[in-house]
Amino acid sequence: MADVEPTEDWILNPAETLPEEVDLDVTLRPRRMDEFVGQGATKDHLRVLIDAARNRGEALDHVLLCGPPGLGKTTLACIIAAELDVNLRSTSGPAMERAGDVAAILSNLEPGDVLFIDEIHRLNRQIEEVLYPAMEDFKIDIVVGKGPSARSLRLDVPRFTLVGATTRTGLITSPLRDRFGMTARLDYYGPEDLKAIVLRAADILNVRLEDGGAAEIASRSRGTPRIANRLLKRVRDYAEVKGDGTISHDTAAKALSFFEVDALGLDKLDIRLLKTLIERFQGSPVGLNTLADAVGEEPQTIEEVYEPYLLQLGMIKRTPRGRVATERAYSHFGMPMSDAARLF
Ligand SMILES: Nc1ncnc2c1ncn2[C@@H]1O[C@H](COP(=O)(O)OP(=O)(O)OP(=O)(O)O)[C@@H](O)[C@H]1O
Ligand SMILES: [Mg+2]
Repeated sequence: MADVEPTEDWILNPAETLPEEVDLDVTLRPRRMDEFVGQGATKDHLRVLIDAARNRGEALDHVLLCGPPGLGKTTLACIIAAELDVNLRSTSGPAMERAGDVAAILSNLEPGDVLFIDEIHRLNRQIEEVLYPAMEDFKIDIVVGKGPSARSLRLDVPRFTLVGATTRTGLITSPLRDRFGMTARLDYYGPEDLKAIVLRAADILNVRLEDGGAAEIASRSRGTPRIANRLLKRVRDYAEVKGDGTISHDTAAKALSFFEVDALGLDKLDIRLLKTLIERFQGSPVGLNTLADAVGEEPQTIEEVYEPYLLQLGMIKRTPRGRVATERAYSHFGMPMSDAARLF
């Protein structure tokens, strides 16, 4: 049973990437637009922009990719570079500390290259200010010398494409946001798309996955490809240890229950969160910090990772006075909703 361990809290947390998953992410990452499942409108828009840029022989306009963790932002950035047939240079908001870092990165790009900045909402002010003229006019201002003899030099940088990714659109300053030619918001995936994603992954990993097994994994993956792939691996472990390795509907259902992933893909923390709202606070609105304290998790994780999916499922509501559980949450647990709770 070495391979099969009880659930840990990370199993459904797409924001936690385990070291072993870095490789998994890379192995399973679609390389071309045609392999990227779902997100139809975003793909169509990007295809048009990419074709137009290629035909004109110009750099693609800057693109901002937004959405919850694990939905394919990094994947799309790589695909954009591959489709344009240019180099991809990756960095992240927190990694760029000084103006000189930006100058060094930008001046080393080839014309048309893609610069991918992950977590772009975490750029500091000073870096943002260097980026504005770089994005708009492909120029940067650098200061040479120190003290009274310091002077500012304006340098040309190659025409490049900035692809930014963020899980927190609200934290991007408007001058930065306005400099992107296209903003794509990735949505949670529907069950058919997730099924296609796990079937594709099973193919790559040489796993015998039946249609019903794929559907079962899909329905419990919180609309998130990273989780779908992760659950596939756990179910494969279970199927190998407890059966002959084939993943049927029944095996998938048993394996996922074993790992404590419920029918809607809710994990222990989701359940604790909902039950806290329903039982402990008896249906009255609860502020984010109070809720985070009550369930023992960081407010930011609740807001960025757990809430979006619960909101999407219609299990919670954000009211001006705080979070409340909805009727759907009560009925999921077979609990009656009091008249008082209905008022919020
Ligand atoms: N549309 C898709 N089709 C197939 N697989 C996908 C798709 N989107 C994501 N994946 C899979 O999910 C994994 C996670 O995607 P990715 O790393 O691009 O997410 P992300 O949005 O960048 O997440 P984070 O916000 O945590 O950086 C990828 O390695 C890939 O295997
Ligand atoms: Mg990413």
